[in-house]
Amino acid sequence: MKTEAQPANPNGPLEHLEEWEDFLKTRYPEPASSQASPFQATDPGKKKEQFRNYEADARPSVREFYRLNHQSQTYDFVQAKKREYLSKSRRQMGIWEAMEFLNTLVDDSDPDTDLSQLEHLLQTAEQIRRDGHPRWFILTGLIHDLGKILCLYGEAQWAVVGDTFPVGCAYSDTIVFHQFFEANPDSRDARYQSRLGIYEEGCGLDKVHLSWGHDEYLYNVVKDHLPEEGLYMIRYHSFYPGHREGAYAFLTTEKDRRMFEWVRAFNPYDLYTKNHEKPDVKKLRPFYEELIREYFPTPLRW
Ligand SMILES: [Fe+2]
Repeated sequence: MKTEAQPANPNGPLEHLEEWEDFLKTRYPEPASSQASPFQATDPGKKKEQFRNYEADARPSVREFYRLNHQSQTYDFVQAKKREYLSKSRRQMGIWEAMEFLNTLVDDSDPDTDLSQLEHLLQTAEQIRRDGHPRWFILTGLIHDLGKILCLYGEAQWAVVGDTFPVGCAYSDTIVFHQFFEANPDSRDARYQSRLGIYEEGCGLDKVHLSWGHDEYLYNVVKDHLPEEGLYMIRYHSFYPGHREGAYAFLTTEKDRRMFEWVRAFNPYDLYTKNHEKPDVKKLRPFYEELIREYFPTPLRW
């Protein structure tokens, strides 16, 4: 139990990264049937009043997390992080090793479920497996959050998790806590605040810079190894303004929009598989080691 006297998390205001995901679950509650319309985005006509309710109900730590995220994720910050991380010169490790590394994120245990990061990943993968999806889909579920090891390199929470959004163009009003963008220097830069900003109509998401976090980092680590559908799931699973709210469609190609169906198919496994039974790591490990070997025969550069 956390008390007032305990020091705050050095990486940010959240007690643990799942606080952000818990907020997403209140904003996007599980449909009555989890099988209901996995390919449907939420009503793009959903209006600001609803966002204001989520904002009013958010914990102070979540509010502070979004404030830091929205004020600090500038176009220049994203470019700097890409220069820093995309050379992948920090470590060489296999997927299971990376899972164990992520598991050392000790201040990140979720008191609601008491599951470790590794158990969370296995839980997501096991639910996908139970639903009879292909092996690459199961593997994608297993690895999708490994980019959170950014926290172990000392990155602030707001630079690891959070709903991602394009930088370099105007902020969609579907983004929660939109008012915090006022403190972002980009909001006073005319180049970045038109509808298209630095981008061209229909240029494709691959050319669009999203706010920096665990999605883009992991995508770059695994991009040569998984089918494109899995890569979209990894790269855009936190891009809620795009895949749930339907914002920024003018930056996408027909292929992006088609691939977003896979991102939406993945989303329920990301958000709603927690709180189920604790996976038996020892028993499951041989299956997953074999699955990892199938797609990642050699260690990866991180
Ligand atoms: Fe994630």
